[in-house]
Amino acid sequence: MTTTDKVMIFDTTLRDGEQSAGIGLTTAEKLDIARQLDRLGVDIIEAGFAASSPGDFQAVRAIAAEVRRPIIASLARCVPGDIDAAWEALKDAERPRIHVFISSSDVHIMELLRKNPEEVMEQAVASVERAKGYCDDIEFSPMDATRTDLDYLYKLVESSIDAGATTVNIPDTVGYAVPKEFAERIRNIRQNVPNIGQAALSVHCHNDLGNAAPNSIAAVMEGARQVEGCINGLGERAGNASLEEVIMTIETRKDLLGVHTDIDTTQIYRTSRLVSDITGFPVQPNKAIVGANAFRHASGIHQDGVLKQRATFEIMEPQAVGWPSSALVLGKLSGRAGLRARLEELGFQLTPDQLNEAFDAFKDLADRKREVADADLEALMADQRRARSEPSIYNLDHVQVSCGSHEIPTATVVITGPDGSVTDAATGTGPVDAVYQAINRVIEVPNKLTEFRVDAVTEGIDAIGDVTIRIDRNGQSYVGRGSDTDIIVASAKAYMNALNRLLIMERAHADA
Ligand code: KIV
Ligand code: ZN
Repeated sequence: MTTTDKVMIFDTTLRDGEQSAGIGLTTAEKLDIARQLDRLGVDIIEAGFAASSPGDFQAVRAIAAEVRRPIIASLARCVPGDIDAAWEALKDAERPRIHVFISSSDVHIMELLRKNPEEVMEQAVASVERAKGYCDDIEFSPMDATRTDLDYLYKLVESSIDAGATTVNIPDTVGYAVPKEFAERIRNIRQNVPNIGQAALSVHCHNDLGNAAPNSIAAVMEGARQVEGCINGLGERAGNASLEEVIMTIETRKDLLGVHTDIDTTQIYRTSRLVSDITGFPVQPNKAIVGANAFRHASGIHQDGVLKQRATFEIMEPQAVGWPSSALVLGKLSGRAGLRARLEELGFQLTPDQLNEAFDAFKDLADRKREVADADLEALMADQRRARSEPSIYNLDHVQVSCGSHEIPTATVVITGPDGSVTDAATGTGPVDAVYQAINRVIEVPNKLTEFRVDAVTEGIDAIGDVTIRIDRNGQSYVGRGSDTDIIVASAKAYMNALNRLLIMERAHADA
């Protein structure tokens, strides 16, 4: 049996990743992520689960229409309505893929589907055939494959390929497998499914026991040639295999694995930052590849070693994953060319208009902050991206607060909305509460604040404050972010961001 040495990277940040509790993305945000995944060079983008909600349908359709290089996939259960919806959303794609799945383990078949294995087999075959009526590229996933009886799994995989599946994906849906065992299952499938050579073999591992990336790599060593996962390891429960970990393991251990991907690894850092910024899910500092400490050496012995020869304690170059190469700081006197060069180095490609906007914001920041570091520029660009890609219904024109040890915190806001400009004021338990109460008086959308976090993006008293909040309404959670050297202003921006996203998403639902 022959295999190629290319491992296809299937990104499901916009589908399984969006299933993470607390993430909800607008179509514009999904498009921003999809464009960056395209720059990263992923082979397949699973843009959503078209039948699951009107918002998902709209996002799959928008990505399929715009992002032309990678394959664009939509997930579908093995039911006609889902498959038809997937195709409807995908039909403008340059390279569409319908990804059908059905449960295959006894516990899922009996307790979840309340069916018998023969019925599931028939439903799987009929669904692959139906999908094949729409397009050639069909992926089939037997859900909970790692807890599925092996003989039944062989038969199901074989039948799905006979019915037209071009990729067969083996999900470790509940993150139960360990690497040696998972590798054996992949080997067994390759040895016992007679037509397996007619389809690409894929894996999709969850991280419940922390084995998602190691299981994926173990499968690659046994001939799997597609790996599914999410940026920053997002996904249901403990998440999916972290794609940056899988990609950099393949890249760094070429000697052992003998395979490659077509990923532009220098886009990894940028992609991770963008996904974290848009989802509001921070990256833990000690996270492999993209955590703030991933390339920092703290102990004296390590620092000494790295200064003498990097290879003593570094197995990858930070630049290989796109970490900014210098800590050059810009300031008040820096010009447009200097700013552009620095932003390009950080991975931002700007149009002339975007550069003008960025330059104005940079000058404004440099007036308030003596040194503008890379992290400041990233926060500034995130603010600009939000303003650009998330059409606001309401804009905050002005915020003013009075507070102190003997004062009742009072805030005044000026907000422009569909009915023009409105000024209002309110008191609160503290300055941020007063601002939020004042905003609530203008934008009357009852909600519950469930998370409020302030991070300083650099050190020092003049650091930019990056505020992340989460608000809940009708069981749905919406993230909001804002940054400014004034944390009250940053908090106000974050709340406006969350409210605008909530209104846009609720409207998209109502219109569908
Ligand atoms: O984890 C899983 O089994 C899935 C499938 C739908 C592929 O996400
Ligand atoms: Zn999954």
